Amino acid sequence: MSKKVRRIGVMTSGGDSPGMNAAIRAVVRTCAYYHTDCVGYYRGFQGMISGDSVNMNARSVRNIVNQGGTILQSARSKEFLTKEGRAKAAQNLRDAKVDAMILIGGDGTFRGGQVFSEEHDIPVIGVPGTIDNDIYGTHYTIGYDTALNTVVEAIDKIRDTASSHNRLFFVEVMGRDAGFIALNSGIGAGAEEILIPEEDLGLERLLDSLERSRRAGKTSSIVVVSEGDKIGKNVFELAEYVKQNLPYYDARVTVLGHIQRGGKPTCFDRVLASRLSVKAVELLLDGEKDLMVGMMNNEMQSCSLDQASKGKHKINKDLLRISEILST
Ligand code: F6P
Repeated sequence: MSKKVRRIGVMTSGGDSPGMNAAIRAVVRTCAYYHTDCVGYYRGFQGMISGDSVNMNARSVRNIVNQGGTILQSARSKEFLTKEGRAKAAQNLRDAKVDAMILIGGDGTFRGGQVFSEEHDIPVIGVPGTIDNDIYGTHYTIGYDTALNTVVEAIDKIRDTASSHNRLFFVEVMGRDAGFIALNSGIGAGAEEILIPEEDLGLERLLDSLERSRRAGKTSSIVVVSEGDKIGKNVFELAEYVKQNLPYYDARVTVLGHIQRGGKPTCFDRVLASRLSVKAVELLLDGEKDLMVGMMNNEMQSCSLDQASKGKHKINKDLLRISEILST
């Protein structure tokens, strides 16, 4: 029988994402609701290794539901990749009488959490927080909706100047190896072309499409490029290549970068973070372990951490077809 969970630790790890604070708040308040102690660890796995922690109660998380970033800060810990690092973290948790951990982060966080739990028999539950939306077992990750809105707002502004100057803009967006941000923001902002890692459209096709746009009477265009795109050129080389092949285009590049990771979370992300985190605490209190909570078809679900870190969240390729139709 699993040991009764009386004290839960929580941390945020990997790239931060808007809504992580709403998730921390929900973990802490759910613990308070069920009369369970809660300890926050700073800078993800790194804080678990150094024992850098804070006891948290319902009042520790006042007025953070609306704040971007993470009050517990985040990091990508190299030391946690080692057996020794994980052993130090486990000893710190035992010393602090922490029975279980809630890990808010992405697939790297879940991989680390799974190994840690197997080695040290400390239950963990993952809560998916990343702007990339690239996690198996959930249709949405915390921060993705806010990032999408940030990108759409930025592209709307770029479109104003693009049309004033009859220019072609290449806008690079984040997503590491996943095209969710590019595909959905591209459709939302009415981009002429969207380049994502999941579907290599090829350089020729891009040139043909831009040429068609020009012939169709378009005087400015936006191409959204996912940072992980596999076309074989980075966004600056791509713009140069297009300039050389289609010299009538006056091309510019905007890399949106880390602006996509900040800002107040949207209501969608706050509610998502709240629902996932309440569920995460309840699973631990029910004696569950090594799961990731997710939202599928608006329902709270869970899958194993193993599936969450190894499985692939597939993009809906029909969106590419829709984008093509709408950019006619
Ligand atoms: O995983 C989130 C993410 O923002 C990716 O989209 C991006 O590739 C990466 O993190 C950037 O990481 P860092 O902030 O460590 O440079």
